[in-house]
Order: sequence, then C-alpha cells, then structure tokens
Amino acid sequence: MNELTIGHLFEWNGKTVVITGAGGSIGSTLAHAFAYYGANLALIDKNAASMENISRVITDMGRTCRSYAIDITKETDVKETMADIQQQFGSVDILINHAGMNIRQPAVEYDKADFDKVLGVNLGGMFLMAREAGRYMIEQGGGKIINTASVSAVRGHKRQVAYASSKGGVAQLTKVLAHEWAQYGVNVNAVGPGYIYTNQTKDLLADDVSHQFILEKIPMGRIGEPSDLVGAYLFLASPAADYITGQILFVDGGRLID
Ligand SMILES: NC(=O)c1ccc[n+]([C@@H]2O[C@H](COP(=O)([O-])OP(=O)(O)OC[C@H]3O[C@@H](n4cnc5c(N)ncnc54)[C@H](O)[C@@H]3O)[C@@H](O)[C@H]2O)c1
Repeated sequence: MNELTIGHLFEWNGKTVVITGAGGSIGSTLAHAFAYYGANLALIDKNAASMENISRVITDMGRTCRSYAIDITKETDVKETMADIQQQFGSVDILINHAGMNIRQPAVEYDKADFDKVLGVNLGGMFLMAREAGRYMIEQGGGKIINTASVSAVRGHKRQVAYASSKGGVAQLTKVLAHEWAQYGVNVNAVGPGYIYTNQTKDLLADDVSHQFILEKIPMGRIGEPSDLVGAYLFLASPAADYITGQILFVDGGRLID
C-alpha cells in the first residue's frame, strides 16, 4: 500500500454503492455513512416509503441517489434493477448485500412456508443480488461485496431454525463467491452483527426477560446500535481490505468469545 492509498482509504468519491435493505435501521445508517465519504447511492428495499427520508438526506448532501422499490427474491426485478444502476451510475463498485428478515418459532412449530420465506430472502435474495452485481464487477475488473451475516451463522440459537440456517448459508455463499471471483479482483466478505437495536429486534428486546438473557451473554454489557456497524462495512469496502476475501468480521460486543 503506498502513501497515496493510505491518504484515501475512506473516500468513495464518485463510486457507486448499492445497498439492499436500505430503508431499514442498519441499511439507512450505512447509506448515510457511505454518502458522507463521497459515494453515490443506489438504495434497494421492498418498502418504498422506508427509503424516502434517507434518500432526501443523501441528495441534500450533494450525492446522486436513486431508490429502487423491489423484492430481492424476484429474479427479473433484480436483473432489471442492476442493469438500470449500471446504466444510470456507470459502474457498480460496492454491494452491501444487507436485506433480511426473521421469523422466530420453536422448530417443531415452524411453518414450512415461513422457513422457505426466510431462506428465500436471506439466502436466495442475497445470492441473486451478489450474482448480478458480480457480473458487472467482473466485467469492469473489480469490486467489493459485503454480505450481512450474523452471529447466528455460527451459533445454534433457539427459535431461529430458518434464520440461523440462512445466515450459515450466507457464510458459505461468501466463501464460494470469494473463491470464484478472487481472480477478477472482486472481494467478497461478510459482516456478522451481534444483537443490534433495529426494527427486526425491537419486539424481542422489548421483552425484559429476553433482553436480560441476551445482555448477560454480551461481554461488553450492551446491545449494539446501527452506528456500531459502520466501521466494519467501511473497512471491508475500502482499499484497506484489498487483500481480504472470504472472511466474516463479527461486530458483536464480544458475544462469540466463549
Ligand atoms: N438487528 C440485529 O440484531 C441483526 C443482527 C444480525 C444481523 N442482522 C441483519 O441485518 C440486516 C438488516 O436487518 P435490520 O435489523 O436492520 O432490520 P430492518 O427490518 O430494520 O431492515 C431490514 C430491511 O430489509 C428490507 N427487506 C426485507 N425483505 C426484503 C426483500 N425481500 N426485498 C427487499 N428488501 C427487503 C426491509 O423492508 C427492511 O427495510 C438483515 O440481514 C439482518 O438479518 C440484524
């Protein structure tokens, strides 16, 4: 790494960052952070209204921002969206492959349709997004993909049979894509958040017993905030991570230590 690179580690001026789940708690925080460091943003979320505020904030910062209200499990929509992003922005430099969902139930009561739904979004949708972004990145000679995994990728938490299976799948998806695309300069890594205050966890964490149970397992003694994740995504999307691929960076307050 030369001096020039060191001076520009956290700048994305004119680069295109695509974020799925961009209307959610963590996704919108990440979009804001990349815009702050100069990126233009393509926001993707199935909920159009959820992207309105963050889209306005990014545009007010003087960046180009376009919102795409699609379901990432719909193959045609994903293909058309990525083609439009390539055409409108001129490149696809970074994909934050982040949209996800959870349905918590004991395994014996778990509905198969719910199981398919969670796997369909968290793993199938992530695969589609990565495949389409990867095609453009390979063509243009490089890029970075960061998939959102979870501590559930490596832990067997109760009531998470579909979620944990999907996130374990994300860990393997990350490794295979990293292996296949290293030769093209496309780095594929994952961030594994611990428990973070978001829409996805608000009901769980509103329950005092669950909240206390979770807190006791976090050495740092607090639940994370979306802002706690920003540094990990920026790092993996930066030139500082050029020689890192196929890894999961856990950001969990020490949850996985024991
Ligand atoms: N909150 C946590 O503690 C935690 C921990 C580990 C991992 N994660 C992961 O972080 C990511 C974001 O979760 P969050 O906690 O910010 O939740 P969130 O509900 O605030 O955000 C998720 C976003 O994804 C969008 N989305 C869901 N399904 C979609 C689909 N099919 N197509 C397009 N968009 C879709 C939702 O509309 C929502 O805006 C998920 O992948 C989740 O599994 C969260």
